[in-house]
Amino acid sequence: MSKAKKSAPGRVPSHIAVVMDGNGRWATRRFLPRTAGHKVGVDALKRLVRGCLLEAVPHLTVFAFSSENWNRPAEEVSALMDLFVQALRRETRELAAQGVRLRFVGRLDAFEPTLQDLMREGEAVTAENLRLQLNVAINYGGRWDIVQAAQALALRGEPIDETSLSAHLCMAGVPEPDLLIRTGGERRISNFLLWQLAYTELYFSDVLWPDFDEAALRAAIADYAARERRFGRVPPPPPGLRVA
Ligand code: IPE
Ligand code: IPE
Ligand code: MG
Repeated sequence: MSKAKKSAPGRVPSHIAVVMDGNGRWATRRFLPRTAGHKVGVDALKRLVRGCLLEAVPHLTVFAFSSENWNRPAEEVSALMDLFVQALRRETRELAAQGVRLRFVGRLDAFEPTLQDLMREGEAVTAENLRLQLNVAINYGGRWDIVQAAQALALRGEPIDETSLSAHLCMAGVPEPDLLIRTGGERRISNFLLWQLAYTELYFSDVLWPDFDEAALRAAIADYAARERRFGRVPPPPPGLRVA
């Protein structure tokens, strides 16, 4: 992608969250097993990372596996686990070279030790990188996240308020997403970042995840740039009407 195609400065979200949906349908439409769609989905994620680096988006959070995805057929779950292991083995070095800081959010202790080790290693070798923080939500559920934060506070006998609870969520310290992109045509959150999405701009695309490319990312950012965020307030009056 050429530099000329970069989005206008000042209108790029600081944090984009993505529900990468539609892999299964992408494959089924081609008479391929669903797992083929997941495989190509990894390439789409690599494209998204490159796009975010080019657009100078500092935070990206992707939904790779929900706490409910364990309920899929055993073969699909097991193929996904193999794919996570493969992708980490293949991609960590390049991510590190690109200046990406990798983080995994979710209940990681449910995964087999090899995958847990690769996730920890990926975090460790990229820990000093500052260009783009890539949070991968894996065995993640928004309700679980809120409950584990409340439990941590209760255990310490600390008061539960919005500030203390936010500070115990998996992504504490990361700014809340400005833009949520969901591909695949469904218009739902599916238990992603329930707390953090309170004032996020939502963008739903019918493009299936494996087909999501740089142009699709630019279209999402352009749509975001045209929105007026109000956070419960009223819009400012036009300049000519301002009262001193
Ligand atoms: C999203 O694609 C990837 C994961 C949930 C791991 P899907 O597998 O949900 O694809 P569709 O929605 O069935 O097409
Ligand atoms: C959400 O997609 C989870 C991920 C993309 C990892 P799903 O395909 O699991 O969501 P539902 O079941 O359509 O709501
Ligand atoms: Mg789906």
